[in-house]
Amino acid sequence: MTLPDAGSDFGSSDLNSSVAISESPFHFDNDTAFLQWKEKKLSDYPQSIEQLIVPVNDPKALTTLECLQLKTLLLKTNMAIYDINGDAEEDKSIPELIGRQMGIRQLDKNECADDDAFTSIQVVDEGLHTIYIPYSEKGINWHTDGYYNRLSEQIYSMILHCVRPAAEGGENQLWDHEIAFMMLRDENPDYIKAMMAPDAMTIPKNVLNGKLVRPDRSGPVFMITREGRLHMRYTARARNVIWKDDKLTQKAQQALRDILNSRCEYLFHGKLNAGQGLLCNNVLHTRTAFKDDKDNPRLLYRGRYYDRII
Ligand SMILES: [Fe+2]
Repeated sequence: MTLPDAGSDFGSSDLNSSVAISESPFHFDNDTAFLQWKEKKLSDYPQSIEQLIVPVNDPKALTTLECLQLKTLLLKTNMAIYDINGDAEEDKSIPELIGRQMGIRQLDKNECADDDAFTSIQVVDEGLHTIYIPYSEKGINWHTDGYYNRLSEQIYSMILHCVRPAAEGGENQLWDHEIAFMMLRDENPDYIKAMMAPDAMTIPKNVLNGKLVRPDRSGPVFMITREGRLHMRYTARARNVIWKDDKLTQKAQQALRDILNSRCEYLFHGKLNAGQGLLCNNVLHTRTAFKDDKDNPRLLYRGRYYDRII
């Protein structure tokens, strides 16, 4: 496989893998490894979101068993939901400490993050936040977090901790990106080849008040990390991405879109309750539109990390 050119904007890239990429089950040309991986992946794969939930007693001091249960789920599905026993507190140290106990600590500080690099996801009616959908009541289509980041600062894991759910709506769909990869590869391995090209998609530059916040960024959709794991960068929001102008890439991105719009058994759907949090290796997710209760507004804390959980 030809490795994508990391480019000056990207710095050191996980694409320069120390594992033999051609031996990876995620390589488009390795049928044997892929089929073995697929069989193992689908064996006992959870069928409902309830199977992803791990009750935890004290989030600041997880027991060995709680950690093991969370990590086992993450290994299988790239996601797990902790469910804290007791009242939900407005305390950002809870998700931060859960992250530390799960081995992640390199937080990405985006422009809307609070000083501690966690972001309060809530409806904001003024300032910089108003131009970004997460701080409104609108729904958000399929994406992985930080798809617009440079490749040297990829978001490999994420925590979404719920303090107060929306009065109405604000649900999430969750899709293990490895399953999306699997379904796309089953359709045509060449689609994977196209989606791994270093110029498969370009995220247009972001200019605010005449100031360049972020330049155009090109990169692949699927990447194999140096640990041999699969990473995905994606947005279904058409205005946020320019797909490579060739037939195969266009067909591949349409096939992926169709897969994500299908209702398959591997898709999880639910709403985080107060005191619950999603821990994930940046899986594909959506958010439905919601109605806020002004006296009890929706509040979630989000942490994005440069490390994978497991
Ligand atoms: Fe997101």
